[in-house]
Amino acid sequence: MSSTGSFHPTGVSDVAAADSAVVGASLLPRSDPVLKVNALSVVYASSRGPIKAVADLTLSLHQGEFVSVLGPSGCGKSTLLGVLAGLQVATKGSAAVFDRPMMGRPHPNVGVVFQRPTLLPWLSVLDNILIPIEAMRRRKSDYLDRAHELLRLVALEKYASHYPAELSGGMQQRVGLARAMIHSPGLILMDEPFAALDAMTRERMSVELQEILRESGQSVLFITHSIPEAVFLSDRVLMMSASPGRIIKDVAIDLPRPRVTATMAQSEFAEICGALRKLYIQ
Ligand SMILES: Nc1ncnc2c1ncn2[C@@H]1O[C@H](COP(=O)(O)OP(=O)(O)OP(=O)(O)O)[C@@H](O)[C@H]1O
Ligand SMILES: [Mg+2]
Repeated sequence: MSSTGSFHPTGVSDVAAADSAVVGASLLPRSDPVLKVNALSVVYASSRGPIKAVADLTLSLHQGEFVSVLGPSGCGKSTLLGVLAGLQVATKGSAAVFDRPMMGRPHPNVGVVFQRPTLLPWLSVLDNILIPIEAMRRRKSDYLDRAHELLRLVALEKYASHYPAELSGGMQQRVGLARAMIHSPGLILMDEPFAALDAMTRERMSVELQEILRESGQSVLFITHSIPEAVFLSDRVLMMSASPGRIIKDVAIDLPRPRVTATMAQSEFAEICGALRKLYIQ
């Protein structure tokens, strides 16, 4: 990645060139992608006939990369995430995570933050966070310290023994975030994880998430509707077309890291957001 921190025309490419050297993030030495989606199409059967949710969608994500996906409501972002999470199958094309084709079964090295928090109402916050550990038949006691560390991260340390019904929507979403990270997965899929949070919490979570990832080297595919959030967090921003969605732009974000709250007040940051906004409405 360039250290100039400037957004320049070569940083914006049609997706056909996404893996070429002109895209900023591609300047890094490239390992095999941790995530590879090739010409993916998903069609839902419905009483009104087939619904084409994504069509001919191609993307890849490399070790340690943070890639955001922006796209209009209904363009197929959650559908894409569903395929990568192993909850949805491709109608055509392929999706592979850590070289394993995704055929409707979750990958153990993947954590998922869903658009809705989907917590189990009969389990406490702490036990909800430990669900992946139980599913993997590991010893929960080995993960208690990590669970409390994550509870601190999401500012819920006082709520470990509360139940989901006692939490606000934003708090439940933060539990979902901690749950996705409990087993330190190599790849985290996040579907609008901060959508239910107030502006201040959202900003703080962005800064802290970036800190954690800097140390852990985990890769993230992050779905959001917020251009500033995507710019702040990402190495690359992918833009989807309207439904049925495919990736139409692959934009490298060359702002230096670590990015801090003050980064959002810089003119360069505003310029990049402005350029993305123009692309978005084209
Ligand atoms: N289970 C389903 N059965 C039938 N159609 C579905 C199903 N899930 C999604 N769709 C349709 O597929 C399309 C893509 O939906 P999806 O939820 O992936 O969009 P999205 O980009 O995540 O939208 P949003 O930004 O509003 O969350 C939409 O037209 C939606 O109506
Ligand atoms: Mg969605």
